[in-house]
Amino acid sequence: MIKKLRKAVLPVAGLGTRFLPATKAMAKEMLPVVDKPLIQYAVEEARAAGIEQFCLVTGRGKTALVEHFDVAFELEATLRDRDKKEALASLSGSHSEPGSITTVRQQTPLGLGHAIWCARAFIGDDPFAILLPDDLVLSDKPCLQQLAEAYYETGGNIVAVTEVPREQTNRYGILKTGSDDGRLVEVTGLVEKPAPKDAPSNLSIIGRYILMPEVLGHLARMERGTGNEVQLTDGMARLIGEQPFHGLRYEGRRFDCGNKIGFLEAQIAFALKRPDLADAVRAFLKNYT
Ligand code: UTP
Repeated sequence: MIKKLRKAVLPVAGLGTRFLPATKAMAKEMLPVVDKPLIQYAVEEARAAGIEQFCLVTGRGKTALVEHFDVAFELEATLRDRDKKEALASLSGSHSEPGSITTVRQQTPLGLGHAIWCARAFIGDDPFAILLPDDLVLSDKPCLQQLAEAYYETGGNIVAVTEVPREQTNRYGILKTGSDDGRLVEVTGLVEKPAPKDAPSNLSIIGRYILMPEVLGHLARMERGTGNEVQLTDGMARLIGEQPFHGLRYEGRRFDCGNKIGFLEAQIAFALKRPDLADAVRAFLKNYT
């Protein structure tokens, strides 16, 4: 029986060194794309996929992330007094169901695998999604919803994948592939950041996963991998052969907002999708080409 997917883990304990000095006192996931912080895009995407319970794996200096989903009583009262209806309405996506967001602390950033393991009490015996908020996907159907629909078809573990230029395989988790119907691909192996010459394919994992709780047992070994970090990819690789494992070629365009060019591209792409901004953005872009 395929268990319903209700839980999501959002690891936000990284140091965000590529965005210093912006991330000196503020979490990378609070950086806005247009007018919404990355973390809110991720939470809204998860809600659209039926997620009811969220666990943020946080570290030092991340309190704004939690506050963002709280009721801002004084602000909201002031906006009501001043009849600022639009501003008030803009806050709706940042409200959360009482009790639906929990946090755990990753005291030391030992890697993504370690961050997920820190959420083990929250995960318990349930399947769970992982969203890395710095991967932003522009799509008709939210990416995690596409993944959840595929999960209800196949059961087991499933990750969102996209083709990357071969010279970039050393930036991502890369799949070794079995049967492939053009949409769903069977995963027969996983390698973290292989050199292009060693990469088993150019299909890379993006920051959207649905995993079975058994991955926690593998992560608990705390084996260090690439970059001397506890890698989620290595923990997932151990599930292959034990449980179904698929990659889904999702529909949509991914922006890696953890790096500057991806982040700047996301600003433009998301602004061009906004009816209130698109014409003005198109007009000023002409001045830069
Ligand atoms: P990144 O590789 O983007 O690392 O992590 P980072 O620290 O956030 O950013 P840079 O490379 O220093 O600029 C991918 C995801 O894993 C989380 C990050 O918060 C991000 O969502 N992460 C990474 C943790 O939560 N803990 C870790 O120990 C490492």
